[in-house]
Amino acid sequence: MKPDDFSPANHQRDIYLRGFAGHLPRVPIEWRALEDKAKDSMTPEAWAYIAGGAGLESTVAANRQDFESLKIVPRMLRDTSQRDTSTSLLGRTLASPLLLAPVGVLEMVHPEADLAVARAAASLGVPYIFSNQASRPMEEVAAVMGDSPRWFQLYWSKSNDLVASFVQRAERVGCQAIVVTLDTTHLGWRTRDLSIAYLPFLEGKGIAQYTSDPVFQRLMDEPSPPMARPRVTASLLSGLIKMVNAYPGSGFLKKLKSGRPQKAVQKFTSIYSNPALTWKDLAFLRQQTRLPILLKGILHPDDAALALDHGIDGIVVSNHGGRQVDGSISTIAALPAIAAKVNGKVPVLLDGGVRGGADMFKALALGATAVCIGRPYVYGLAVGGADGVGEVLRNLMAEFYFTMGLAGINRVDEITRDTLAR
Ligand code: GLV
Repeated sequence: MKPDDFSPANHQRDIYLRGFAGHLPRVPIEWRALEDKAKDSMTPEAWAYIAGGAGLESTVAANRQDFESLKIVPRMLRDTSQRDTSTSLLGRTLASPLLLAPVGVLEMVHPEADLAVARAAASLGVPYIFSNQASRPMEEVAAVMGDSPRWFQLYWSKSNDLVASFVQRAERVGCQAIVVTLDTTHLGWRTRDLSIAYLPFLEGKGIAQYTSDPVFQRLMDEPSPPMARPRVTASLLSGLIKMVNAYPGSGFLKKLKSGRPQKAVQKFTSIYSNPALTWKDLAFLRQQTRLPILLKGILHPDDAALALDHGIDGIVVSNHGGRQVDGSISTIAALPAIAAKVNGKVPVLLDGGVRGGADMFKALALGATAVCIGRPYVYGLAVGGADGVGEVLRNLMAEFYFTMGLAGINRVDEITRDTLAR
């Protein structure tokens, strides 16, 4: 299917027709059922990592509650026979105002990981923001996408050489924007992961962008702060085996003896984030690339203003799916003040809590240019690989299309504040 061929109306009709022939949707359409099936398809560790948030998970909850407290007020008799969900973003036309947020360590969820997501995204022309913590190197992922849109999400590590190398690679594989995540200067206090004392990176998972990078390979030869040496247990050995297996290349013993897998994890844990960053550092990134730079993790309108002052090309209103600061403002609550400050000068994207087409509609009504989804597509991946991701995307795009029409709206630029109850 070519990306433009997706028809929400045919999609809805096909679901019913298949049901008439006795076939129920393989990927659950209701959110709770999708969540349940995804949970059943994952290990407890993967579920904790993907579904969990920081602390009491009140930010995860607020992202949802604040969407739910907004109400659409549909208008009638407005000829909605010709609806158009397309929108323009950084010079490209998208069939729907939707992108795939970066999510790391997808090998925990499905063996094809980022490749499966990329295939699904490309089949529908939905932009995929490659994760800095991907399970597959960006070169491999880009190779399955044809010329479908892709961006790169950057964690600014302690090595500017590595930052520069990631950005150059992203340019080479055709990424059209760099999205810098600002909110992860440290990993949040993630209570589910801490309770089971499990961090996938220690098994060498989610570091494929690093191990495939020439600058990182060089950094691995420089000394890292020593890691604590726990007592040798069965669990430690099993972790070591996973770490060696996760490292690129063949020959388990050869890899083990080289010490490279262990060095990679050690170096990664010592440099992956840089809490010393300030606004001034953005000039370095600007020198590295001509691509548009977006800042992800903006929640305060004054930070949005600073982003504009620093020549930033777009903003992603995000609280990292509630994984960083517990008790944080929800993204949909933060959006209106940020959109007002930005005043249309650059695109404003939003992620966090988007579960259905109505949420997309509400975010656009409050000033978002487009939304990103994270957990929903990861659940689709867990349940059905690339097909599962594709199905989640089609369901979301269809629901948005129907929500627009049923609210009396024909084009995305007509989705204004007036479409919501005061
Ligand atoms: C990393 O990006 C994470 O949220 O775990």
